[in-house]
Amino acid sequence: MPDPTETPAVDTTSGAARRSRAIAPLPDQLISQIAAGEVVERPASVVKELLENALDAGATNLRITLDEGGVKRIVIADDGCGIAPAELPLALLRHATSKIRSLAELEAVATLGFRGEALASIASVAEMFITSRTSECAHATRIDAQTGALAPAAGTVGTTMEVRELYFNTPARRKFLKSEQTELGHCLDVIRRVALARPDVAISVLHNGKAVEHWNTSDPRTRVAKILGEVFDTAHLPLDERAGPLAVYGCAGLPTASRGRADQQYFFVNGRFVRDKLLTHAVRAAYEDVLHGNRYPSYVLFLDLPPEAVDVNVHPSKIEVRFRDSRSIHQFVFHAVQRALARNAGASPETTAGGHAAQLQPIASTGAASFSAKPLAGAGIFGGDRAKSESGTSGTSWLRQSRMTQGTLPVAQPLALYDALFGRKDAPAAPPAWATDSAPSAALHDHAADAQPLGFALGQVHGIYVLAQNAQGLVIVDMHAAHERILYEQFKNALADRAIAVQPLLIPVSMTAEPVEIGVVEEERATLDALGFDLAVLSPTSIAIRAVPALLKDADLQSLARAVLADLQAYGGSRVLTERQHELLGTLACHHAVRANRRLTLDEMNALLRQMETTERADQCNHGRPTWYQLTLGDLDRLFMRGQ
Ligand SMILES: Nc1ncnc2c1ncn2[C@@H]1O[C@H](COP(=O)(O)OP(=O)(O)O)[C@@H](O)[C@H]1O
Ligand SMILES: [Mg+2]
Repeated sequence: MPDPTETPAVDTTSGAARRSRAIAPLPDQLISQIAAGEVVERPASVVKELLENALDAGATNLRITLDEGGVKRIVIADDGCGIAPAELPLALLRHATSKIRSLAELEAVATLGFRGEALASIASVAEMFITSRTSECAHATRIDAQTGALAPAAGTVGTTMEVRELYFNTPARRKFLKSEQTELGHCLDVIRRVALARPDVAISVLHNGKAVEHWNTSDPRTRVAKILGEVFDTAHLPLDERAGPLAVYGCAGLPTASRGRADQQYFFVNGRFVRDKLLTHAVRAAYEDVLHGNRYPSYVLFLDLPPEAVDVNVHPSKIEVRFRDSRSIHQFVFHAVQRALARNAGASPETTAGGHAAQLQPIASTGAASFSAKPLAGAGIFGGDRAKSESGTSGTSWLRQSRMTQGTLPVAQPLALYDALFGRKDAPAAPPAWATDSAPSAALHDHAADAQPLGFALGQVHGIYVLAQNAQGLVIVDMHAAHERILYEQFKNALADRAIAVQPLLIPVSMTAEPVEIGVVEEERATLDALGFDLAVLSPTSIAIRAVPALLKDADLQSLARAVLADLQAYGGSRVLTERQHELLGTLACHHAVRANRRLTLDEMNALLRQMETTERADQCNHGRPTWYQLTLGDLDRLFMRGQ
């Protein structure tokens, strides 16, 4: 707002542009303060800029000291290349940088910084001192950014940046800062991102004189485990896909490691942490089939691509990027994550044992006996060797094995039983015949044990769990969750093929209905039809169910119809078939999955196991719960302290 006393007395006509003063260039300090408004939002932004500079300087050791959430003081000491004494004043100059020299270099920039304005911006809103020494110098030199005064100082090779009293000269800004704990939290967020991206760098953090974090240099997996915690460490899938110059790698958390908030989602593009809608969407879409709508996947993913293919100069804070070919990047990331999740399906015993069994608490009294989490298949996560390890014990070879033996096994006919149980006689998307038809009778179990990944049923526990023996040991299956998963995939395939088999009802089932339900029946006729439902409005308060999807003919039809109408109302007809398909399929599958407390015969249990083997992602139900655990003989031995 212009100061009224400075406004010229002569008023112009109302509404016309009013020029109160002559045009003049802004003073340097003010320009930097304006720039600081974008770059230096809070102490955490200072930490981010200083850390990026230290990494650009080749540091391998970072000591971060914060006081009062970083508002009072931030000190970052690195062991990077240092700044020559003569260049110290230049480092503080606006638009002065050692990182790029030309537009061509900007377009291929490989350093984290390049704008040459961070130090100038910070120095314009805080007290700042740089102490630095290069390997050519006998001692360090210190510069006071406020006065520009240089003085010799003690110090080893590297740079120590000290920032005090952030916003001391811009009180309006300072008022926007939050509590000490909140600002500290933001600083730690920034530090964690750097720590994830650079496990090869040792980092320690002190706050108000107390050590809060310390990470030694380590391999990527150890660093990820330290930062995301044990749950993530024991429930993630390594990922490493390359296509020409593109690479996506890192760790994708299993649904069991999902969270109520999106607070464990780390995406790095060429080593830079970014928050990018396109990438977030691609990952989210890949999880769609295994994760319930209100859960957030956890992941640490890296995308590497040629610098020319991505523009990092979109925002001064460089947290947003723009891809030259965003569509193919989206597809690449989506498929890489989706494949990793699908590959996990009922497959790798290591993954499941390490992931789920590891969460069981040891009951032994000695410290030695515990379910140590086995390394995941292809545990070298960054640049991992998962593809190679596939030839070992993982699911692909398992399935190949069972495929080879199928023709040679005398085959019982559990199909009728299976149909009776799951009502899938008319199922359009029947799995390959070898899977459902080849469950051998009990006498054959021992010979065939290693041909079937999930082994053969031993019995049932409390009508909830199926126990089976396979080559590795004991398999425990949550019947309801597993069946839900199978139905979900069957529906999905049938829907994709527009081949939902319809079961007309000889005697229509009528039910009372709310006005909104009546409305949905009338408006969403096409969608209901596509799903295999034929519902008719009988009166303003009742409807008749005349046909249902064959897969669901044995469900409680009234509550099924209600649930489907509720989904259609909540998400809208066209969306339940597209982006909300996941929710709808979940509703349908859940409604007909075999309930707990249902007695199954051994043949029925085996049919379920075979069906699981052919279902993609069979080891997570669509609510993100695991559907089966593998307890290996080794796990059992450890439990009983055998051989110790
Ligand atoms: N920790 C550091 N170690 C060595 N050089 C540094 C360090 N921090 C800053 N510099 C030097 O100061 C220059 C200016 O830093 P900055 O204002 O952050 O701009 P930018 O990082 O975009 O180049 C950098 O280009 C670099 O040469
Ligand atoms: Mg910088």
